[in-house]
Amino acid sequence: MIIKVKNLSKNFLDGKKTLNVLNNISFDVKEGEIVTIKGPSGSGKSTLLSILGTLDHADSGEIFINNQSLSEAIDLNRLRNLNIGFVFQFHNLIPELSLEENVCMPKMISKEKIDKQKIKELFKIFELEDRMKSFPNDLSGGEKQRVAVMRAIVNNPSIVIADEPTGNLDKENAIKMIALFKKLNTKNNLTFIIATHDEEIFDIGHSQYILEGGDLKNINT
Ligand SMILES: Nc1ncnc2c1ncn2[C@@H]1O[C@H](COP(=O)(O)OP(=O)(O)OP(=O)(O)O)[C@@H](O)[C@H]1O
Ligand SMILES: [Mg+2]
Repeated sequence: MIIKVKNLSKNFLDGKKTLNVLNNISFDVKEGEIVTIKGPSGSGKSTLLSILGTLDHADSGEIFINNQSLSEAIDLNRLRNLNIGFVFQFHNLIPELSLEENVCMPKMISKEKIDKQKIKELFKIFELEDRMKSFPNDLSGGEKQRVAVMRAIVNNPSIVIADEPTGNLDKENAIKMIALFKKLNTKNNLTFIIATHDEEIFDIGHSQYILEGGDLKNINT
């Protein structure tokens, strides 16, 4: 089991009202699995992904990533940097940095040596080898999102967490992105957790969940 979630709850205080966003959620993610999650806007998909990605804390419950309990982890930043790659709806690339620098950012953070040849090969796989020195603003939406995926996988994470990765793409680029995720899953055995409103990307999930009213329901069982 690559991720184990036990009795996870998260509330937000909205004025005087308590929003019960995640209500005692438990589920497992197997290595090499694609998990897709859908649910109405505001149902807590981004909240759940942020907690799984160690960017936010739950109120109660336990999470294990690669058998390591998050509550007992000494260095969450390192655990995140080495295990988890993120792809967001709005790529979040740094406009002042070249594509190459953007992709190498997780390596700089982990103070790892950058193998220029490997980075070049990565750009080749993503068909952007001529654009390494370009800046994000000079790219199309689909190209930017491909750079964001490269940045997510550059540290060879075991898990990619993607929050509406096709939410800002046209149909053609969304289809390309879906194919890319599938390829990374089968070729590299990369585990994906994807929140999406897009039925086509939802369909690639080996395990498919609906988040609604604080509950996470597996629709395959
Ligand atoms: N920091 C916060 N403080 C208060 N309420 C919050 C906070 N973050 C999220 N919420 C609320 O929690 C609920 C879940 O939000 P979340 O962003 O997780 O939903 P979502 O399912 O990702 O929605 P969408 O599909 O629109 O992206 C929403 O009602 C939101 O307003
Ligand atoms: Mg969201």
